[in-house]
Amino acid sequence: MKKAELVFIPSPGIGHLVSTIEIAKLLVERDDRLSITVLVIKLPNDSKTTAYTEAVVASSSITKRIKFINLPDVHNTVAEVSNIALFFHLVIEAQKQQVQEAVQKLILHNNSDPDSPRLAGFVIDMFCTTMIDIANEFDVPTYMFYTSSAGYLGMSFHLQTLYEEHNIDTTELNVPNTEFKLPYFVNPVPAKVLPSVILFDKEGATAVRNFTRRFKETKGIIVNTFTELESYAGHSFFDTNPTLYPVGPIMNLKGDTQVGSGGTQQRNDIIKWLDEQPLSSVVFLCFGSMGSFNEDQVKEIAYALEKSGVRFLWSLRQAPPKGKVAFPSDYSKPQEVLPDGFLERTAEIGKVIGWAPQVEILAHKATGGFVSHCGWNSTLESIYFGVPIATWPVYAEQQFNAFELVKELGLAVEIRMDYNRDFYSESEMFVNAEQIERGIRCVMEQDSDIRKRVKEMSEKSRKALMDGGSSYSFLDRLIDDIMNNMS
Ligand SMILES: *[C@@H]1O[C@H](CO)[C@@H](O)[C@H](O)[C@H]1NC(C)=O
Ligand SMILES: *[C@@H]1O[C@H](CO)[C@@H](O)[C@H](O)[C@H]1NC(C)=O
Ligand SMILES: *[C@@H]1O[C@H](CO)[C@@H](O)[C@H](O)[C@H]1NC(C)=O
Ligand SMILES: *[C@@H]1O[C@H](CO)[C@@H](O)[C@H](O)[C@H]1NC(C)=O
Repeated sequence: MKKAELVFIPSPGIGHLVSTIEIAKLLVERDDRLSITVLVIKLPNDSKTTAYTEAVVASSSITKRIKFINLPDVHNTVAEVSNIALFFHLVIEAQKQQVQEAVQKLILHNNSDPDSPRLAGFVIDMFCTTMIDIANEFDVPTYMFYTSSAGYLGMSFHLQTLYEEHNIDTTELNVPNTEFKLPYFVNPVPAKVLPSVILFDKEGATAVRNFTRRFKETKGIIVNTFTELESYAGHSFFDTNPTLYPVGPIMNLKGDTQVGSGGTQQRNDIIKWLDEQPLSSVVFLCFGSMGSFNEDQVKEIAYALEKSGVRFLWSLRQAPPKGKVAFPSDYSKPQEVLPDGFLERTAEIGKVIGWAPQVEILAHKATGGFVSHCGWNSTLESIYFGVPIATWPVYAEQQFNAFELVKELGLAVEIRMDYNRDFYSESEMFVNAEQIERGIRCVMEQDSDIRKRVKEMSEKSRKALMDGGSSYSFLDRLIDDIMNNMS
């Protein structure tokens, strides 16, 4: 039997690693000819990553056909840089030699044994395109695992073409007056829903272009979506070059992503509270691992919740100190930022929490709506569990996701869409209580068309993953192509 080994190289950071492990599991579970080695690049001072891979290996939730190699730290040489795209570029670039050596070792080891798997290709993610060079040295194809939407992938290709063929630079756009006509979107896309980094940061935009330019050199792009969700213009979007393989939604339903935060006590407390609430009665507010607001905005959310009278579960996170790049944390005394007496007055209907076991909350029958930052994972989880979203994007491509959900797909209610710190002033960014309250009431409406559509899409997402479903079939096609492309 012909056996194939894939080398996975995710971008540094626990989030990327987690998604990578999910797709790796899916592949080896589907086909026992496949084995996978994940080369793990750590962030500076990153202790979580190794702990996580060790926990995964120990948990036996994973077969022996998935292995991890931790690449040695070399980024002490990486100077502090301001934007994330450039930072990834430098950290990853610094690892090329080590990737080359690690793969060389893998191959040498195997030459002695004719039954061992042959190297079949690299699977990289969107920031690791420079590793295509190494795959080429070994004369194997590169595939990409893309963790955002197909819609945004198309947008990226479109912007790249505008740059290469028409010299249009996103950092020189007249943002308020620019729209993009994508061939597969019904609505023109306003520039102001694009990520800040490509609109306002020359160096960041160059770094992003450098990554995107090379997407086309891959043999195929595995996308975390499913055709029924993003089936613009009769699927034609999926017939592109490189081949797209929509195999999602890929989610970590066991929720072991949130290593280190929360804890069972907190989790049990939250689920117990939800168990006591009526069916589909609770609105859940959560803004992702990087989402937090200033105190005025926190108060405004509180006023909106109180005024709406809707039951709520609110993951309230404290912003890191100004000017510091760090994750939000839990408040030790949330009452200090909330309006006076808020917790007492809402004790019967609401619960303010810090870290949230999001998947379990979305899966709970009491949860009826989700005020979300629209990160693509959260979006997929929400759709999978049939919970409609009220959009409040915060960073990265979340504004685009919100636009796609509200305007193109009719699967979400708008609170904000074009929420951007680099574009609007602080006062323009402020979302007032009426606007929030309207969004909450609307998303909680029990027999709305949006809720109906989300429920339908939820069913389609489950079918897509089952034998005979679209994502299931695309995964088979991917494996066939990997085996056939082996030299
Ligand atoms: C969630 O999505 C992002 C891309 O938007 C990805 O980089 C990350 O790995 C994902 N995180 C988890 C926990 O799955
Ligand atoms: C990483 O750790 C070293 C030593 O423990 C410290 O000097 C350095 O400032 C840390 N770097 C970052 C980016 O936190
Ligand atoms: C090489 O052989 C080792 C040990 O038999 C195996 O674990 C690994 O997956 C193989 N890798 C490749 C690239 O063939
Ligand atoms: C982008 O690519 C060009 C050409 O390869 C290179 O000179 C430049 O340093 C890269 N810039 C960034 C920010 O990645």
